[in-house]
Amino acid sequence: MKSLELDWLYKTNDIPIHYTEETNGGGSFFLLDYIDYFKEHYPNNKFNSALEWCAGPGFIGFGILSCDVCNHITFLETYDKAINLLEKTINNSSINNATIVHADNVKVLDGKYDLIVGNPPHFSEYQLMQKNAYYSNHSKENWERIAVDNNWDIHREFFTNIKDKITPDCLILLAENTRELPKITKVANECGFELKNSNLAKSTGMHVLAEYKYIL
Ligand SMILES: C[S@@+](CC[C@H](N)C(=O)[O-])C[C@H]1O[C@@H](n2cnc3c(N)ncnc32)[C@H](O)[C@@H]1O
Repeated sequence: MKSLELDWLYKTNDIPIHYTEETNGGGSFFLLDYIDYFKEHYPNNKFNSALEWCAGPGFIGFGILSCDVCNHITFLETYDKAINLLEKTINNSSINNATIVHADNVKVLDGKYDLIVGNPPHFSEYQLMQKNAYYSNHSKENWERIAVDNNWDIHREFFTNIKDKITPDCLILLAENTRELPKITKVANECGFELKNSNLAKSTGMHVLAEYKYIL
């Protein structure tokens, strides 16, 4: 007997996005908050080159691409199974304005981005995340991969290395947990970024879209 492999489709305009339960870190919800944010704050902007950091199956990136928020999207992700799903979505829809970067964080990137979106791991420890009912269906191992950023190392590496890969007016808009936002912002500040705005993510009620700007 063959083993059963399931993947699901999340359709945004003309793009059916392939995903699995294991790779869905909440982006299927946050996409709606992102679209609201762009409508309210940047209704007439079309960004040239966008990056989805910690992309998973690319809900946010494919979603904004399908709404013409950007001309091109790059997906950065480290997990093999998510990379396979990103490739499947791109190949099945013959998308020619998306690039996949399979890497551990942003140091390897060589583009200049004017928009960065992403839903990175945003709890400093597993226990804090575990108390939260929203994250209850996943194995401990999978949620550590998806949700935990020990000592904020992933965020620190991002804010340290992204500086020379962004245009001066680059918009960085990250989905973060509301309770952890002050600690993440402290890391961002240490690296020269300021929090310009934070909007409640209506899809969950306990996250925000945090807009960071490079100030040095
Ligand atoms: C909260 S999940 C978000 C997944 C997807 N964007 C979503 O919203 O459903 C965080 C993602 O970051 C990826 N990740 C964790 N550390 C990473 C790193 N150092 N570099 C790139 N991706 C990373 C994980 O594999 C996971 O897919």
